Amino acid sequence: MSTKQFDVIVIGAGPGGYIAAIRAAQLGFSVACIDKWKNEKGDPAPGGTCTNVGCIPSKALLQSSEHYHHAAHAFADHGIGLDNLSIDVKKMLSRKDNVVKQNNEGILYLFKKNKVAFFSAKASFVKAADGGYEIAAGDEVLKGKQVIVATGSNARALPGAPFDEVNILSNNGALALSAVPKKLGLIGSGVIGLEMGSVWRRLGAEVTVLEALPTFLGAVDEQIAKEALKSFTKQGLKINLGVKVDEVKNSDAGVSVAYTDAKGQAQTLAVDKLIVSIGRVPNTAGLNAEAVGLKLDERGCIVVDDECRTNLPGVWAVGDVVRGPMLAHKAEEEGVAVAERIAGQHGHVNFNTIPWVIYTSPEIAWVGETEQQLKARGAAYKAGTFPFLANGRARALGDTTGMVKFLADAKTDEILGVHIVGPLASELISEAVVAMEFKASSEDIARICHAHPSLSEATKEAALAVDKRTLNF
Ligand code: FAD
Ligand code: NAI
Repeated sequence: MSTKQFDVIVIGAGPGGYIAAIRAAQLGFSVACIDKWKNEKGDPAPGGTCTNVGCIPSKALLQSSEHYHHAAHAFADHGIGLDNLSIDVKKMLSRKDNVVKQNNEGILYLFKKNKVAFFSAKASFVKAADGGYEIAAGDEVLKGKQVIVATGSNARALPGAPFDEVNILSNNGALALSAVPKKLGLIGSGVIGLEMGSVWRRLGAEVTVLEALPTFLGAVDEQIAKEALKSFTKQGLKINLGVKVDEVKNSDAGVSVAYTDAKGQAQTLAVDKLIVSIGRVPNTAGLNAEAVGLKLDERGCIVVDDECRTNLPGVWAVGDVVRGPMLAHKAEEEGVAVAERIAGQHGHVNFNTIPWVIYTSPEIAWVGETEQQLKARGAAYKAGTFPFLANGRARALGDTTGMVKFLADAKTDEILGVHIVGPLASELISEAVVAMEFKASSEDIARICHAHPSLSEATKEAALAVDKRTLNF
């Protein structure tokens, strides 16, 4: 058996791995990328969690369910009548599968274009050899001077309630339900819970959420989280905070969850399907990390420094398998930075300006510090908010929920955080990311000409509000 030699071997073709592989190839290295994901037909499906069971399919279903919701509840307001509105869940799922497939094929095309050798196989460390590493890729052995591990994460199960993907669902099963469940339970009101809960609620499911923490979306700015909770509750999501899940019973008839509510009362929730979204665990099983002494922490994350270096020379790790937020764009940024560091460049990731987006309706997006974080560190700050209710474009869209909020340093006016709940927050947040990356002040944004009528005018007005001089509110 011949051993194929590469400058760089990337394990995993999710957003961390495939982007690292492309950037390394752009920099002139010979690159191999190994990924084991296959679709239902058994074809290679690069793109990782993000493409196959994460960002992309969830956004496809969020779009379909939002169209349905608008048709059922918003069109009439615009004078558009519809008779016999119906949902074809199978069609919705097959559209979603098609979107996923286009992305899988896009990555295979990019590998070809950039001359990245792709291996559709499970990879594991064999041994350190000749100043590099031998990596098994299925039946083949590859040799690489540098190795980038980007093996991602998997859903965490509740103890005693394993995923069967029929009744007890991880994100995988939640994105593939073939019919709208009458009653849907959700454990964990984090990002996945809220996005998946939104999809199935819009399509008609009665959704109940059980969340352990007493605060809703604790990582989000309190004022924004409060506004979002108000809106989700109005839409019909039943969100129970501060609960303790005691027991989950799974049977042919559905799932029964025994829990203790925030008042200490024993309760039972009976549902047809249960989505468990209580966080994710790094995926290092099967890597044979022990063979080379690759260091993992107590949670199974690969231990890395600020620059994604592991304890082994020439071995790097990026994305969900290491510390930091589990976000596709964070994984991508780390992948690019590592490829550049291997090339002797100064790859850089600014962890302070990584945006977060929750694609519910209203959308929630933020970058930088929250007001509660600023208070906790005793920072002197000024705040400015502007409601979408006073924005002309939002009124024309028929979506005036929410606000834009700026937090700026009291002395220097440097923007410390921007928080948005409302229409297209996912797109609006980019302006704030750019501003913070360039260390802009709130006055900088307030002085920039924003197109009219646009939702971005709410951003400008919130920046003006920092100085208490909004023009339209
Ligand atoms: P992954 O995408 O998990 O990719 C890892 C790859 O490595 C996989 O293909 C896996 O099969 C492969 N692999 C693992 N072990 C081996 C091995 N031994 N050999 C070969 N291959 C291996 N993030 C966002 O930023 N925006 C969103 O909107 C968003 N939505 C999400 C929705 C859901 C439902 C979920 C679950 C996640 C979502 N995320 C989102 C998070 C995002 O998907 C992850 O942060 C991102 O995929 C991490 O990228 P990664 O490259 O580190 O790992
Ligand atoms: P999460 O960390 O966002 O939320 C998990 C929630 O479950 C928390 O609120 C936690 O308090 C709660 N919880 C934990 N144990 C519990 C228990 N035993 N009983 C009840 N509640 C419990 O995790 P989630 O939703 O699984 O998502 C994982 C990650 O995937 C996210 O943190 C995010 O990084 C990524 N993601 C990103 C998306 C985006 O960017 N739009 C979309 C979906 C996922």
